[in-house]
Amino acid sequence: MMPCVKALIDRPARCHCARISAIEQQKQPQPVLIHRLIDDAFKELDLELLRTKVKGARRRQHCNPMKASLMEPLTLPDWKDVFADPALPLTVDIGCGQGKFSLLLAKKNAGFKNYLGLDVRRMLVEKANVWAKELNLVNAHFLTANATVSFGSLLPTYSGRLELVCILCPDPHFKLRHRKRRIVQPALVNDIIRYTAVGGKIFLESDVEEVAVDMRNQFETHLGVITKLDEPSLQDTEDGWLLDNPLGVRSEREIAVLAQGGKMYRAIYQRR
Ligand SMILES: C[S@@+](CC[C@H](N)C(=O)[O-])C[C@H]1O[C@@H](n2cnc3c(N)ncnc32)[C@H](O)[C@@H]1O
Repeated sequence: MMPCVKALIDRPARCHCARISAIEQQKQPQPVLIHRLIDDAFKELDLELLRTKVKGARRRQHCNPMKASLMEPLTLPDWKDVFADPALPLTVDIGCGQGKFSLLLAKKNAGFKNYLGLDVRRMLVEKANVWAKELNLVNAHFLTANATVSFGSLLPTYSGRLELVCILCPDPHFKLRHRKRRIVQPALVNDIIRYTAVGGKIFLESDVEEVAVDMRNQFETHLGVITKLDEPSLQDTEDGWLLDNPLGVRSEREIAVLAQGGKMYRAIYQRR
């Protein structure tokens, strides 16, 4: 199992999640190399420049998504204050971290699609919004929210079609008593399926097989309303996971995991 991104990037030896032995750590690429790979993947965003302008956004490693302030549905935004054109097709990145994945897609699809990132970590969300502003990405926005609680109230108010939902490397919460903190819960799955437009897609991935299987099982209880996307360009591994990321943009964690020689477990569905 891979350690968390913070462990992969910042200081592997001190991360509580890093259940890796000292010997395994010696084999890992140097943190600076992973930083470089991530910077390289997002170089279109000119984040080197932006890094100097966004202060105070030190990343806390974990945030309990079930703390009281996150258990209330968030105040709904006025979409026209958030996006230049609030009727464009929407992608939602659930558990977006500092949002580089959505920012890059927003840059590539400026004028055509909107991108909304949701994360429980306020400092990361603020940082992502500063970057969106600096980059003049009027089609990207980030909200501090427990997606499991707020998705269902947020999406019906959006006037465009929900064309893609991404859940990329959600926190695994291994301990049985913490499973209820996982993002993917039956109510969220119902809401995602309910609000995704016909033809819209749901992309799931994790570097932890158990978490990917859990997500896949929950979504596949709705087979019929959704279907596994079957396109010639999509190849499956022997165990039925997608061989590659079909979106053409990887999240920070995916980049870090692959740099470590880790495996990603991916699945994509389409709303019928
Ligand atoms: C392991 S990180 C992955 C970040 C990013 N998706 C990536 O792949 O690089 C998981 C993220 O999900 C966020 N998160 C955890 N529970 C959440 C919830 N219920 N709602 C929204 N975000 C959540 C965490 O704060 C964290 O930023």
